[in-house]
Order: sequence, then C-alpha cells, then structure tokens
Amino acid sequence: MLAPFEVLFEGNLPDYPLPTDLKHVYGRLGFSARVVYSNFVSSVDGVVTLGSKPSAGSVISGKYPADRFLMGLLRACSDAVVIGAGTLRATPGHLWTPAHVYPSLATEFTALRSRLGRSAEPGLVVLTASGELDFKHPALTKGAIVITTASGAKKIGDRLPRACELVTMGKGKSLDLGDVFAELRGRGLAVLLSEGGPHVTGQMLEDGLLDEVFLTISPVVAGRADEPRFGMVEGIELLPAKGAWSKLLSARKHGDYLFLRYGFRNV
Ligand SMILES: NC(=O)c1ccc[n+]([C@@H]2O[C@H](COP(=O)([O-])OP(=O)(O)OC[C@H]3O[C@@H](n4cnc5c(N)ncnc54)[C@H](OP(=O)(O)O)[C@@H]3O)[C@@H](O)[C@H]2O)c1
Repeated sequence: MLAPFEVLFEGNLPDYPLPTDLKHVYGRLGFSARVVYSNFVSSVDGVVTLGSKPSAGSVISGKYPADRFLMGLLRACSDAVVIGAGTLRATPGHLWTPAHVYPSLATEFTALRSRLGRSAEPGLVVLTASGELDFKHPALTKGAIVITTASGAKKIGDRLPRACELVTMGKGKSLDLGDVFAELRGRGLAVLLSEGGPHVTGQMLEDGLLDEVFLTISPVVAGRADEPRFGMVEGIELLPAKGAWSKLLSARKHGDYLFLRYGFRNV
C-alpha cells in the first residue's frame, strides 16, 4: 500500500465519500457539481513536454507511484477526460482510465464511481481540427467522443472505430472550446478532467473555462535547448496584461514531490 500523502495545507473544499483505501492515501477530495479541472506533472524548471519524445508525463514524473495514484484518483472522480489530439498522438498505447495508471486500486476506483453515481469508467473526449488520428490507438478502439470541425470530419470520414462517436461542431478552422464544454454538459458530463496538453490548456484559460489545476512538481530539472519544450500553457500570452491569478486550494507532499491544487474561481 502506498504511504499516505502529507497534507501541508487544505482549504475548505468539497468532500466526496472516498472508499477507505483511497481516503487513507490521499485524505479528503471532492469537487463542486459542475467543474473543469486539469492535471499536470512539471519539472522544477517548468517543463511539461519533451519535444518529440512520447509519454512526456511519465518521463517527467519518473512514473512516481503517488503521482500515478493521483492521476487515477482524479480520473475516477470525473464524468469524462478531455484531451487534445496532440496528447493522443504523443501517448501511444495509453488508456485514459483510472485502472490503466494505477491498476492495484482499480476496485476502489470503481467503488468510488459507483458511490458517486458515475458509470464504471470515465468517458474519453478527443479534440482535433486536423482529423489526423491514429485510428488504431487503443483509446479509440475502446471508445471515445471525437469532436472536430467540418474539415476534420471530412478527413476522418468513416475511419473511426465503431465504439467512437464523431461530433462535428462549427465551420471554423478550430473548435470553440466554450461550445465544446457546453455540448459535453448538455450530455450530462458535468465533472470534467482535462488531461489535454499545453495548447488545449492555454485556450481553456484564455476562455475562462478552467476552474482548477492539479500540478505535481517532480524533483527533476529537464532543461531546454533546440526542440520546443512547453510549460503548462502554450499559444497564448497572459502576463502582464491578463495574468490568470489563482488561489491555492491545497498542498501535499509525498517523498520529494509536491502536489498543488489551484482554483481559478471560488469553489
Ligand atoms: N506533463 C503532463 O502532465 C502532460 C499532460 C498532458 C500532455 N502532456 C504532453 O503534452 C504534449 C502534447 O502537447 P499539445 O499541446 O500538442 O497537446 P494538446 O493540447 O492535448 O493537443 C493539441 C491538439 O489538440 C487539438 N486541438 C486543440 N485545440 C483545439 C481546438 N480549439 N479545436 C480543434 N482541435 C484542437 C489539435 O489537434 P490537431 O492537431 O489534430 O488539429 C491540437 O494540435 C505531449 O507531449 C504530451 O505528452 C504532458
């Protein structure tokens, strides 16, 4: 069994009825009825992607068990996980389920979902403008809602696996993420986890769609040289004029790793 996280600070937050083993490890965790939260692991020097290398998150976290536990727990709390196609392409073989990242607590994750009245596993939502997807990716074979533009849908044609649903929104070059989240809420998906990369996260912040960020600081320095290595947000500039200031909601420690939770709105 994983050693418990050390709670350094915690505000007054919603409290889900976590099964004993999950509560023993993490402590309290819960969300408001309608929320969008994201989860990132970053190096000490702010790197979350490693150029063309696959599975940047795993490399940056060193597959640290407590980080994988938290990934699983955050997935277990959600109605659906939202990613951009960049993250799908960069993570071959991945499944965005709680059990995939922390199999030994799969039963407890399912029990939590059942207590919350959620389906056995969270859904997966993939955003793409280009329509350039690996149609054999196991996450697509398993089933996902793929949301794209009219031209993306043309490119995809009928190549998605049967378990997927293709949703076409708008005629523009890219999706309006406000419309995307409204569509998901209209389907009863109210508690949404974004595991999208820096581009999706940038748009969500710019459009005021992101309520909370879970940020793991891994005790490693990644460095930057020739290839682009992004921080948590790419494609928009916020400071100095529009800095997205947040409130610290909780801080935990596990070994040499820090686990921070920030809120962009009052929760
Ligand atoms: N360290 C971590 O915790 C962490 C977490 C997540 C991801 N990552 C890493 O982040 C890297 C990927 O970064 P990324 O920024 O490319 O990922 P991303 O934001 O998940 O994906 C970007 C892609 O999503 C699609 N997209 C985004 N906004 C869209 C919009 N408004 N309308 C239509 N499609 C839209 C586009 O796909 P198309 O190009 O198909 O049009 C775009 O190229 C990977 O290396 C991954 O491992 C790291």
